[in-house]
Amino acid sequence: MTQTLTPDSLTPNGLTKLAYQTFQQSKQVFGFAHKMLSTQFLNALSPTKRNEPNPLNPEMLQAIQSRIDDLLTADWQDAEDGVYPKSALFENRWDDFFRYYPELWVDLPKIWDRATNKRHQDFSAGINTDGYPAYYVQNFHHQTDGYFSDASANMYDLQVEVLFNGTAAPMRRRILAPLKQHLSQMPLFPDISPQPLKVLDIACGTGNSLTLINQAMPEVSLYGVDLSPAYLRKANENLSNIKSNIPAQLIQANGEALPFVDEFFEATTSTFLFHELPAEARQNVINEAARVTKPGGVFVICDSVQKVDTPEFAPLMENFPAMFHEPYYRNYIDDDLVARLKAAGFTEVETYNYFMSKYWVAKKPAA
Ligand SMILES: C[S@@+](CC[C@H](N)C(=O)[O-])C[C@H]1O[C@@H](n2cnc3c(N)ncnc32)[C@H](O)[C@@H]1O
Repeated sequence: MTQTLTPDSLTPNGLTKLAYQTFQQSKQVFGFAHKMLSTQFLNALSPTKRNEPNPLNPEMLQAIQSRIDDLLTADWQDAEDGVYPKSALFENRWDDFFRYYPELWVDLPKIWDRATNKRHQDFSAGINTDGYPAYYVQNFHHQTDGYFSDASANMYDLQVEVLFNGTAAPMRRRILAPLKQHLSQMPLFPDISPQPLKVLDIACGTGNSLTLINQAMPEVSLYGVDLSPAYLRKANENLSNIKSNIPAQLIQANGEALPFVDEFFEATTSTFLFHELPAEARQNVINEAARVTKPGGVFVICDSVQKVDTPEFAPLMENFPAMFHEPYYRNYIDDDLVARLKAAGFTEVETYNYFMSKYWVAKKPAA
């Protein structure tokens, strides 16, 4: 989405678009600058040989920029089309940014130490990992305490923001248009008192996708599950100010065994979960999503791109598990989620890509 000044730029809408482009560009610059400075900082701190990522050639960098441009164009267009208000494009948790950004720097040497010494199950004293699936007890992304502490939950969104140069929200927002379109076609129980539509976000983390769903559809009743109590506490904090008559219901649960009766939700969603699951757990979560989604309902997934869609990004995808601790990513990028969704009972499955993300819109047949 390149910035070009035309007479239209001077209309209120043109100025809003320019402001959005500038906002996103400053996030990109910030993300690049942070990554460059942190590399220099770590080199100064510990000049030993590092596991350097494969360098990216200029064509690849250009391809990345062009995909970011396409993503931001789609984001603006969906706002123009009324999928969500334009004000949603500018939302940023500035309080958290100023509070936790310095902690990112304090945490960096610990991350570096764990990464260099390949300590992938290293948690602070007092953290209890009993009862969690073994695959989950990891320092994903070399994060201090994995998903097990409030400190990790407080820094998570900032870390993702830096990693994706400010495109995490635009990538997550790409689930909203198909979700809204499918929900608008669901019958609203005309024979009994009208009930709000219910949407479940599986592995809701700190509540990002639920917040975005609320911005697009404030009338929808929101549910979220996650295995991490700390991330759910953060989600609760983040969702406490949303405009909704019904507070979001957040429950600690494994996506592989959802604590809901069959066919309870008009729609289910999940963002950035599947690449962090082993293959069998991926299928279990999909089976559960199929079970709790009503006939005629939809399951919308957003996760990392896969090899089959973007072979040209193979070097990037190979860098990812090498630089960040992502033990199931290599298996994920070759996994056929369409086959898994169909095995679980979803029939029509549509897929599409934006920037580093892939989306699956899976429909459960009407009864
Ligand atoms: C990469 S984060 C994504 C969080 C959020 N969906 C987002 O878009 O920011 C992965 C999340 O999945 C959760 N998680 C991983 N395995 C899970 C499982 N089996 N059941 C429920 N949550 C799980 C983690 O606790 C974490 O919050």
